[in-house]
Amino acid sequence: MENFTYFNPTRIHFGRGQIAAIDRELPAQCRVLLLAGGGSIRANGVHDQVRRALGSRAVLEFFGVEANPDYDTLMRAVELARREKTEWILAAGGGSVLDGAKFVAAAVPYEGDPWEILVTRGARLRSALPVGAVLTLPGTGSEANGAAVISRRSIRQKLAFIHPVAFPRFSVLDPETTFTLPQRQIANGVADAFTHVIEQYLTYPARAAIQDRFAESVMRVLIEEGPRTVRNPTDYDFRANVVWAATWALNGAIGAGVPQDWASHMIGHELTALHGIDHARTLAVVIPSLLSVQRARKKAKLVQYAERVWDIDKGTDGARAEAAVAKTRAFYESLGLRTRLRDYGVPAETASEVAGRLKARGLVKFGERGDITPEVVEKILRQAA
Ligand code: NZQ
Ligand code: ZN
Repeated sequence: MENFTYFNPTRIHFGRGQIAAIDRELPAQCRVLLLAGGGSIRANGVHDQVRRALGSRAVLEFFGVEANPDYDTLMRAVELARREKTEWILAAGGGSVLDGAKFVAAAVPYEGDPWEILVTRGARLRSALPVGAVLTLPGTGSEANGAAVISRRSIRQKLAFIHPVAFPRFSVLDPETTFTLPQRQIANGVADAFTHVIEQYLTYPARAAIQDRFAESVMRVLIEEGPRTVRNPTDYDFRANVVWAATWALNGAIGAGVPQDWASHMIGHELTALHGIDHARTLAVVIPSLLSVQRARKKAKLVQYAERVWDIDKGTDGARAEAAVAKTRAFYESLGLRTRLRDYGVPAETASEVAGRLKARGLVKFGERGDITPEVVEKILRQAA
């Protein structure tokens, strides 16, 4: 096991009616900016519950944060927050709204061009306004981590930053607030969370037993409960298990002290920037191909994954690894996420374009061993055609 420092300061309020806890989390008197998306929180009653919890505090509302939150939109929220001397940012929505809130919170006190926060991946951040969150779409893990991914459509970029000051101070996870999700978004969330585990687990053995067994159990829960919650969207316990699994997939615990990959996310973000494909769907395209291209390097963990997650315990190591990759592709497909670029109308030349864009930003060594070069990125996408 590698050395690590584990830090997760986010207080979680989980369960029915927990939006009321916001009242205890915020100072009795404070100026709050409520950030939201296109209106789902009005339709499902979350907005009413949040306003009730906020009581007589001074609240400004900013609606219109897009899926794949846009820099230019968020900069309007930054200006509003600066002008109105906002003290807290409260996000109510999916991962995009939460990520947007983290960016606004970091940009308000930032001296300099806020785009730098993303270009430097958060390296120069010193402080941020406090963020609270009400999560209505399980998947990204944004509710309990310090990461945010921001798109800038005007220059076709999608970049991330990560910093300890960006952790939400608290997050409310009420599974009932997610019952109104369209099937496509539930499936996206299950697939995104599953992929977060893969990124931290399917690398090479580090003899990290807690992290491995924990990662495997999160995956098994998603495999069992994911399809159930897609089919029974208002069953509380199916959904509750998926919500909690998604949090643990990316709150830092299973990634502590182990090698991590993240190449599929880097490649996937480019596919979203270029073609507007949902985040989770880009991963469903990249992961099966990446695992296949890298199967020799990842063999030991693939064999462990085959046995412990998919109960594949017959055949040679090579055959088991291959069967596990096929199971992974079938899992995405069973959720309704197509796994080929052609399913999304993406032309073959995208492979070299993505590799070129990453190279232009100096990103030439991905993966747990730094061996996913632009050439390998291109190969992965060509195989995913
Ligand atoms: O905008 P509204 O009206 O709220 O509608 C949203 C949006 O259209 C809707 N929705 C959310 N909750 C709902 C609901 N509709 C009905 N009922 C509800 N309860 O769902 C749509 C998609 O929402 P979005 O927030 O975009 O989805 P998701 O949570 O998948 O977030 C995706 C973003 O998160 C980033 C992705 O790159 C992408 O930009 N990620 C963030 C990560 C992090 N912070 O750690 C890690 C992830 O790997 C990921 O990259
Ligand atoms: Zn993701």
